[in-house]
Amino acid sequence: TAVALTLTTGATFAAEHEAGCDDGEMVIKFSHVTNTDRHPKGIAASLLQERVNAEMNGTACMEVYPNSTLYNDDQVLEAMLQGDVQLAAPSLSKFETFTKQFRIFDLPFMFVDINAVDKFQNSEAGQAMKDSMTRRGLQGLEFWHNGMKQFSANVPLETPEDAAGLKFRVQPSDVLVAQMEALDASPQPMAFSEVYGALQTGVVDGQENTWSNIYGQKFFEVQKGTTETNHGVLDYLVVTSVDWLEGLDEETRTQFLTILEEVTNERNAAVGEVDAEARQAILDTGAVIRELTDEQRQAWVDAMKPVWERFESDVGADNIAAAQEINA
Ligand code: LMR
Repeated sequence: TAVALTLTTGATFAAEHEAGCDDGEMVIKFSHVTNTDRHPKGIAASLLQERVNAEMNGTACMEVYPNSTLYNDDQVLEAMLQGDVQLAAPSLSKFETFTKQFRIFDLPFMFVDINAVDKFQNSEAGQAMKDSMTRRGLQGLEFWHNGMKQFSANVPLETPEDAAGLKFRVQPSDVLVAQMEALDASPQPMAFSEVYGALQTGVVDGQENTWSNIYGQKFFEVQKGTTETNHGVLDYLVVTSVDWLEGLDEETRTQFLTILEEVTNERNAAVGEVDAEARQAILDTGAVIRELTDEQRQAWVDAMKPVWERFESDVGADNIAAAQEINA
């Protein structure tokens, strides 16, 4: 059945979509953690669902579970290997236990902007990264963009010294832990769904994320402003299990991967717009966004970039050099 796209959340959403699959259709469950509106991943997942359900009607039926309603990112990959979910798009920071190659994306100031990230991902080295976890049962399919990360806190952040002594929520990534330690801050790895509450109650003082996540999760409500540092990237890998993909008949697999590729190209091309809209929506609430002068930004670069050295052997000096060449 081609289910009409409804951007509601939670149990009603899941129930509607379960009811939408016909007997005999293969159910493809896609679990993710963000909101669906004004969000690069949320929009792309919804579009993928719409197209699969329209174009593969009778063969396949996709159910999207957004907002961590099915799994958190620290559960979803194991659930995938168990066959409980077929598709996910965790951020590249969430694959630590499967590969260290993606650490290049977490290194602060490695890429100047999302276009540089796009070029790197589409290079031979970037494309090979999709196959880096097949031994562990996971197959990367497509990179999906979100954007560059910003810092927010319950105090104004202008210089790197302003972050010293504060507790920052980070994604569970050794590079991000090291990055916060380089600022003499205290990194607190935590699931995405817990961050708003932790900021609100003061369990942590600050966080780093993209405009669409800061907007979608309303972090700006419980912070004294966001500083536009663009210090790192947050991107996704659409991933499935090797077993599931290999179990599809060729026609179904080709049709599904073609739709996914088209959705990827369409939504990645539009990511700058979604990012800018989320930033503007934050400003429209009256929340503070601090911009840095070149000199101020350089101080953040000087404080954080030394962590590259520690992870060079994980990510490869040649990959770092390739990223720098793309930036230039
Ligand atoms: C986070 O945990 O901050 C992000 O990975 C969430 C997301 O999927 O964008």
